[in-house]
Amino acid sequence: MNLPVPSLRPDDGDELATLCKAAGDPLRLNVLRALTNDSFGVLELAQIFAIGQSGMSHHLKVLAQADLVATRREGNAIFYRRALPHTELLGGKLHAALLEEVDNLNLPHDVQSRIGQVHGQRAAASQDFFSRVAEKFRAQQDLIAGLPQYRESVLALLDKLSFSDEATALEVGPGDGGFLPELARRFKQVTALDNSPAMLELARQLCEREALGNVTLQLADALSSTTIKADCVVLNMVLHHFAAPADALKQMAKLLQPGGSLLVTDLCSHNQNWAREACGDLWLGFEQDDLARWATAAGLVPGESLYVGLRNGFQIQVRHFQRPAGDTHHR
Ligand SMILES: C[S@@+](CC[C@H](N)C(=O)[O-])C[C@H]1O[C@@H](n2cnc3c(N)ncnc32)[C@H](O)[C@@H]1O
Repeated sequence: MNLPVPSLRPDDGDELATLCKAAGDPLRLNVLRALTNDSFGVLELAQIFAIGQSGMSHHLKVLAQADLVATRREGNAIFYRRALPHTELLGGKLHAALLEEVDNLNLPHDVQSRIGQVHGQRAAASQDFFSRVAEKFRAQQDLIAGLPQYRESVLALLDKLSFSDEATALEVGPGDGGFLPELARRFKQVTALDNSPAMLELARQLCEREALGNVTLQLADALSSTTIKADCVVLNMVLHHFAAPADALKQMAKLLQPGGSLLVTDLCSHNQNWAREACGDLWLGFEQDDLARWATAAGLVPGESLYVGLRNGFQIQVRHFQRPAGDTHHR
């Protein structure tokens, strides 16, 4: 009798076994769950799962060896995120199915509340930064990318969209307010919302100088429930200051009227670690695909994008996402 020749090479079997072993542990599955829309450092994950740093490092090493997590270095810290499955490769379909199942896991309440604590620590670091740098804000911003470098691109996308004469706009994190005159010219009513009193004061001075009569300033955290709804929400260089950008996009989607547009300008993914210290950045830019995926998960439809390369090597992405007109559910 002719037996079929096995198609698996011995090391292929090893590879699959590494994947299965890495997934064969409840803590590691919960780590993958915690990384669904986020990336964390070893210390943060150790805090979240209330285990020692060396124990967490071991689990992350096992997950990395099985290509279930990918790493990104930021300063002295290594951040972990989920690796994307490659279904055309050996183990890829298993990897994809595993993540699908993992997404249905409910993280224990204490783990969820410690994730909230880690986000809170990140947000406090960001707020502390803006309270300290208000007076030298422009110079600090221009270290990487200043409004003059992305203003025209944001306007190019904005002016392709059609809004009614009654349409309203909301700018989240207006900084010193440099973009507010553009919004005030185009919308009936504009709200500028910032959680830093020092930054909002700079925006107030600009509104006064420019006599912008239709702009209302509001001191509030954009991530806590706010009742404002607008036809257009603008976030220029703000998303990378949010502790949990995927969740933040869900929050931003709630601020949109049905049919409304969200315009997000931010850096593309980069590895300039000094930006964390010098500019208070919590995230070193974003992968284009991640933004689209998070926006889609927030119920938005990705529209047109523009990319601006800067001479200093940074690249800016200007993205449009739309809340479907028929989406009239109360979010
Ligand atoms: C880098 S500045 C961008 C300023 C301006 N949009 C620009 O393009 O120049 C980020 C702004 O977002 C604000 N910000 C950060 N986190 C915020 C939050 N959770 N809610 C509201 N504003 C926030 C900061 O205070 C700051 O004014």
